[in-house]
Amino acid sequence: MIIYTDGACFGNPGSMGVGIVIYDSNMKLLAEISEYVGEGTNNVAEYTAVIRALETAKIYEPENVELRSDSELLINQLNGKYKIKDLRLRSLKRKIDELTENLKIKFVHIPREQNKEADKLSKAAVPKNYNKTGAKYKQQKLWQDVKIFVLSIYNMKVDLSLSPLFTFDQSKQLPFHNWFYYKEGYSPKLIDYCLQLSQVKKPLNILDPFCGVGTTLLRSKELGINSIGIDSSPLAIFVSRVKCDDYSKEDIDYVHKFIQDLNISDSNLRWEFELFSSRAAFPKRNYNTILSLREQIENIENQKAAQLLLLALLSILPQCSIIKKDGGVLKIDKKKSAIPVKIAFKRKVNQILTDLENPISGPIPQINLGDARKLPLQSESVDFSITSPPYLNNIDYSKVYGLELSLLSLEKQTTELTRSKSLRSFITHNPNVNEIPAEVGDIGKQIPVIGTYFYDMENVIKEVYRVLKPDGEFYLNVTNSVIHQTHILVDEVLAEIAERIGFSTGILVGAKRIADVKPRRVETRESIVVMRK
Ligand SMILES: C[S@@+](CC[C@H](N)C(=O)[O-])C[C@H]1O[C@@H](n2cnc3c(N)ncnc32)[C@H](O)[C@@H]1O
Repeated sequence: MIIYTDGACFGNPGSMGVGIVIYDSNMKLLAEISEYVGEGTNNVAEYTAVIRALETAKIYEPENVELRSDSELLINQLNGKYKIKDLRLRSLKRKIDELTENLKIKFVHIPREQNKEADKLSKAAVPKNYNKTGAKYKQQKLWQDVKIFVLSIYNMKVDLSLSPLFTFDQSKQLPFHNWFYYKEGYSPKLIDYCLQLSQVKKPLNILDPFCGVGTTLLRSKELGINSIGIDSSPLAIFVSRVKCDDYSKEDIDYVHKFIQDLNISDSNLRWEFELFSSRAAFPKRNYNTILSLREQIENIENQKAAQLLLLALLSILPQCSIIKKDGGVLKIDKKKSAIPVKIAFKRKVNQILTDLENPISGPIPQINLGDARKLPLQSESVDFSITSPPYLNNIDYSKVYGLELSLLSLEKQTTELTRSKSLRSFITHNPNVNEIPAEVGDIGKQIPVIGTYFYDMENVIKEVYRVLKPDGEFYLNVTNSVIHQTHILVDEVLAEIAERIGFSTGILVGAKRIADVKPRRVETRESIVVMRK
């Protein structure tokens, strides 16, 4: 096996990157690594590159290794020709000795021109002035377009084939999953991917502490695994329950009949919404039809039929309104054409009825309104947990889904109440944090939403740690954020917090993301923080 390594450092000390290229003895390319490895000196970067290279090489179980670098100092020190005075380098050398204990290895110095690939990879990994938190952003690429296999101090691995699993796009085509469009949901295939990766071979139960519209729960039901879902939004809980429930022939016949005899009458129902008059969000006829249907559904005695019909009504609100969901805000757009409610409603109910011809059988999940920061579960009762929490500085769900929430509950306060119980991931009126996790640094005070977010997430991680059985695993899907030109490596900060709490962690980078922070577009990433108790 031939290995080329290089370390780059912007500033000395400064941000470090490593570049590694590994070939087998026939010069077939095995791995390319381009990775940011934190803060340190030039020499530390060179040593770290060797460590990462050897850790990766181990996976291929080579018999002989020739490791090539253009750093004369490094090679001479590794060959015992020069003494190592620096304490940090000495401990890194010890690590290298451990890794090479049972290996035939030669360290060879090569001229810089022969090490161009590794050099390029190491530099690509380090955007200038790029820190874990708080660094000013300068436009730089985080990584190159190679599909790289990476191990790091954060035990980092990159698999960009995960990217389509992080969005709701696949669910739009899937029966049951597509009963309610939730932009922030992920694909059920993400559950399969993580279960495959997991060392918990056959989990007895799965917890999703931010269950949203129940993707994890529905997939667990399909797989025959018990699951538990928690969410702070009554809308998310309602949608999850309806999607995961079982229905009798009688329930289904009731829905058929309701839709056949559809009859729209006047209604006196009051539908109050916190942000603006709900009436302003719809053409008049659509508004009246929605109220009439909502009132009729309220009076249906067959509860299962009623919940299917109410879900259908809630799910068509966006297409029947003149509202645009624009990022985190609702905007009235008078030019938007709204589909007549009767048409959209019938279509949706028929789609649901078609799906129910082939029901999903499996254990019905336990789904409860609650707070992921205070799980209503016994300690050491869960095998496996997977979730995607609200992203830092992303949307306020209680606003964006406010119309649906208030039509569901028919109470004006619902949206405000939901907000008060939600993770403080967006700018709120309640930015008080008693203790910002040490891993976050000063930026948590300077930009309060960063402080509140990590404070709340620390409590979530502590709770999941408490309820997991020993060796249990937690897969947390997060996106890094850019706020006021500051790039926050959410995945790394959460991994560090989790390590302090007691988890062993790794980061699986699955997608590149662009944060559109005008006037710039910043390249960032979406990942899964993998935690093992
Ligand atoms: C990204 S979504 C989850 C989507 C889910 N993975 C799916 O596929 O449907 C995040 C969810 O967290 C919920 N949430 C926010 N704060 C919460 C809290 N403190 N406890 C539990 N759920 C919360 C939101 O209501 C939202 O449904």
